[in-house]
Amino acid sequence: MSVLFTPQSIGKVNIKNRFVQSATYEACAEKNGKVSDAILARYEKLAKGGVGLIIPGYLYVHPKGKPHRFGTGIHNDEMIPGLKKLTDVVHQHQGKIFFQLNHAGRQTTKALVGQTPMGPSKKWRDPIHFFLPNEMSEDEILETIKAFGQAAGRSAEAGADGIQLHGAHGFLINQFISPFFNHRKDKWGGSAENQFRYVKEVVLETRKHLPESMPLTIKLSTNDFTPKPGITLELAAKYSQWLAELGIDGIEVSCGSAVFSFMNMCRGKVPVAELVKSLPKWQRPIGKMVMAKLEGKYDLEELYNLDAAKLIKPNINGVPLMLVGGIRTVSKMEETVQSGFADFISMSRPFIREPNLVNRIKAKKIDIVSCVSCNRCLAAVANDIPVKCYNENFPK
Ligand SMILES: Cc1cc2nc3c(=O)[nH]c(=O)nc-3n(C[C@H](O)[C@H](O)[C@H](O)COP(=O)(O)O)c2cc1C
Ligand code: SF4
Repeated sequence: MSVLFTPQSIGKVNIKNRFVQSATYEACAEKNGKVSDAILARYEKLAKGGVGLIIPGYLYVHPKGKPHRFGTGIHNDEMIPGLKKLTDVVHQHQGKIFFQLNHAGRQTTKALVGQTPMGPSKKWRDPIHFFLPNEMSEDEILETIKAFGQAAGRSAEAGADGIQLHGAHGFLINQFISPFFNHRKDKWGGSAENQFRYVKEVVLETRKHLPESMPLTIKLSTNDFTPKPGITLELAAKYSQWLAELGIDGIEVSCGSAVFSFMNMCRGKVPVAELVKSLPKWQRPIGKMVMAKLEGKYDLEELYNLDAAKLIKPNINGVPLMLVGGIRTVSKMEETVQSGFADFISMSRPFIREPNLVNRIKAKKIDIVSCVSCNRCLAAVANDIPVKCYNENFPK
């Protein structure tokens, strides 16, 4: 039997195979953040398709940390019944489900959160909306940490099997641990130890709200690819070691930031026309010029985060590692798990196109996934259009 179909545990939770649906924002929650029927239908299909672990799109833990218009929330108790339906639908098909908890920090808009977005430091204008974020006060920092903890408690109530903290792609946790975003001079910034403090406090607070049986994992950016130095592979390796020492149960290795380096996060083609549509009309001509310059520079390299996994895995004391980023060929998936540098193969875009991918791999019907990394699904969610494979045609 292929190693891909052997079970593996994350903490005390047994996953039936080595496939993970990496968190994928669906752009179809209800406006107030509740789980919609479209979300339930999406995850029923995926669970039926055989994927061992499903991580739905990020759940915002606080109204001021809402990243997108149609994102799902876990910021108050009213969200719990819908989230419970979501875990039920996955469990009915023998899948496991972890919730990804997120606070957008500066990576959102005033229109969505009702105030200038906040981050660790008032440095670097947002390259799309041009605002300078508000520097968070001590009270605001503590409020967000508390919100992560409360959201963890709600996850347990809603029947999630585990948690994934979103420490990647330029959101709030990533902002604190990155020297690009964090220029604070107090105990939350400066040295690597101080920059790590925020995620450490989130881990400790979250743990308090989880039953002992529930694993706590993190998705980590291992390279920010920001215009000035941010997280590097070496720093990510150090952080991973510290997270392992803190007792984290799993690390998903990713890269890039959604505003400053989105094409590093999702390598492949640059869908210029579709992305430009998401900008205000006055910005489109300049947006088109900027994005056209990116074309051809980010072609998909298979397993583009493998080097990071190779550096991190030997130093995390056996903590399971999920590898995401451009994994497309079945033989390479097998090699990667066999090599021991990753325990799980995590994918996003391939599951958007083929929800039944894992069953087809098991039946030996395919050698390579059919997603061609055109990134039109990514452009769709940037336009508030529900996630789907739009390779053949993009909504007018
Ligand atoms: C439409 C779309 C939505 C995404 N939403 C999220 C998200 O909610 N949380 C997250 O951590 N990553 C998100 N990502 C990034 C993916 O999880 C993944 O890290 C990235 O797409 C690279 O993996 P892939 O090559 O298998 O697609 C999203 C990607 C896409 C294409
Ligand atoms: S639109 Fe379809 S083919 Fe293109 S990247 Fe998304 S899933 Fe893959």
